[in-house]
Amino acid sequence: MPYIRSSALDETGYVILDRAERDVDASEWMNLAYVPWRSSGVTRFAPLASAFGEVDCNAFWNHTPPRTDKDGVWIPSQVAIAPSLQRRALAAGAGVGRCRVIELQPNTYADAIYNLHKDDNNRLNPEGTGWVVRGYENLSDDGESLLILREDRFDPATETRIPLPAGTRLVLDTQRFWHAVWHRGSAPRYALISSWTSGPELDRFIAERHGAARGAHVDLPADLIADGQQELHRRLEERRRMLEAQGFTVDPPEPEDL
Ligand SMILES: [Fe+2]
Repeated sequence: MPYIRSSALDETGYVILDRAERDVDASEWMNLAYVPWRSSGVTRFAPLASAFGEVDCNAFWNHTPPRTDKDGVWIPSQVAIAPSLQRRALAAGAGVGRCRVIELQPNTYADAIYNLHKDDNNRLNPEGTGWVVRGYENLSDDGESLLILREDRFDPATETRIPLPAGTRLVLDTQRFWHAVWHRGSAPRYALISSWTSGPELDRFIAERHGAARGAHVDLPADLIADGQQELHRRLEERRRMLEAQGFTVDPPEPEDL
């Protein structure tokens, strides 16, 4: 039995929606309780919904008992601080699994492509049910920063770059392509990320907000990309040697989030 998927994501694996209204006060995401979490770059997470309603970021399949990333439990203390963000996550009408605000410190292009990863959104998800994708909204105003997507982890020719001014909204099948954010600001970037279950509700949400499978092309200088590639391979080799020296034969899991 195939999964239920959004046909809007068939072409590229993502859609860019109409920009969200800037009607959420920054105090909502600034006042949340954040926890450190291993991720792409220097990050902290503020969960709004988690596996059991605790201030916890772990994937639902990494709990006892393990389960798929659906039916997230809202965390009362966090929702009380950020009710508009909860409404944002619920606005799609789709089921919500994990829901959290992610804080990312400024980084470099080389950092970002080193951090490229795919998400593991559908572990334990029963066939024939809705495929889990991610809803993304940039909360801070980061027009110089870029969400970087690659079909091939090591090939910059497969790279898509999406600027992140406030209110930038996407729905992404983050299990399908490599992704990370190059955040060029001087202050942290904040984004709301929700695990959404595909189905007619999500299809309607995408259609009503004019989901587009491609954005405007953003060019980067060739030497910046070449330097980034070189640094990516240097870091990977450094990591491989370090793990080898520690007796690892298999790489530990890749970082998991945007
Ligand atoms: Fe991710």
